[in-house]
Amino acid sequence: MRAVRFHEHGGPEVLRVDDIDRPDLNDDELLVSVRTTAVNPVDTYFREGSYRPGDLPWIPGSDFAGVVEAVGVDVEEFAEGDRVFGTGLGNDRPGTCAEYVATPTDRVAHLPEGVGFDEGAAVALVGVTAWRALVDHAGLEPAESCLVHGGSGGVGHVAVQLAAATGARVTTTASGQYHDRLDALGTRTVLDYARDDLADAVREAGEPNVILDHRLDDYLQFDADVAAQGARVVGIGNEDVEAGFENVPAARSKELTVTLMSMFNTPDISAVLARLARLVADGKIVPEIAQVYSLDEVDAAQRDVIEESFLGKLVVEP
Ligand SMILES: NC(=O)c1ccc[n+]([C@@H]2O[C@H](COP(=O)([O-])OP(=O)(O)OC[C@H]3O[C@@H](n4cnc5c(N)ncnc54)[C@H](OP(=O)(O)O)[C@@H]3O)[C@@H](O)[C@H]2O)c1
Repeated sequence: MRAVRFHEHGGPEVLRVDDIDRPDLNDDELLVSVRTTAVNPVDTYFREGSYRPGDLPWIPGSDFAGVVEAVGVDVEEFAEGDRVFGTGLGNDRPGTCAEYVATPTDRVAHLPEGVGFDEGAAVALVGVTAWRALVDHAGLEPAESCLVHGGSGGVGHVAVQLAAATGARVTTTASGQYHDRLDALGTRTVLDYARDDLADAVREAGEPNVILDHRLDDYLQFDADVAAQGARVVGIGNEDVEAGFENVPAARSKELTVTLMSMFNTPDISAVLARLARLVADGKIVPEIAQVYSLDEVDAAQRDVIEESFLGKLVVEP
């Protein structure tokens, strides 16, 4: 099969397409013919070596959607020919930027009729992240105010829709070019993240009870300043490795809960994927596909996910 691999850590140029054997199948695994895989910033961290994958050469990619080609002898809930999608690979086991992937069943769910492979791959990692942050960690409830920083991003655009689907009042930030589309995805208030009076504008929209923060080094103190009393802040990302409060008493007086998380720790990815699949099938979450690449273009896709501005997800069709 054709698979993208890096044989050493480095920039996008270390990625190349190799011809290798299909992965071996363990008794509790599925072999999936990959129709679409999605690109995430974390793919670049593994490639660069700031996150450590298994032994090189390594196949990047966490997300996949495709058709079950073969099932291990212990697998009961999936059958050959099933349409499935999943995430959580490319970390402790080889990734999904390949024509076939072997995956444990606890990282997979059925893809409903009417939901395309691109949508399935696009929603997987970012959807599980948004669910883990807003539902599991923050316990977001109807009519609460929720701030999602960076609503046009992969995580952001699914998070705003998930929050809206719970009945929360959603405020998000994004570049001006995306405001109309984010309005259409169910946000009540969309603000340019570059505006000088951002904190006042967020408070005016409703002091957030829940905040999803993908740039903790920029926004942790901001979060404390705008948050409602007793707010829950969930941090998923940062640009610099250091982040902290400049004014601890301001945060303390609000009795904030701050949770830092990694999607890879989600205990039952499969169950979350199954719920996300229903929301996508019902039109409550629309995964936006910004651009489609081929396996030969994964280097460009990994460059673009870091350097370019887009709304939604970049996907690869092997
Ligand atoms: N902990 C976890 O489990 C987990 C899971 C998924 C992702 N993450 C992390 O979360 C971050 C976002 O991931 P992603 O997949 O959503 O990435 P993405 O698709 O590249 O989205 C990032 C978004 O941030 C926006 N942005 C840039 N500068 C901003 C600023 N100053 N304020 C607010 N927004 C700004 C970008 O908008 P423009 O391009 O228009 O500037 C873009 O829409 C990454 O660091 C990723 O590694 C963590």
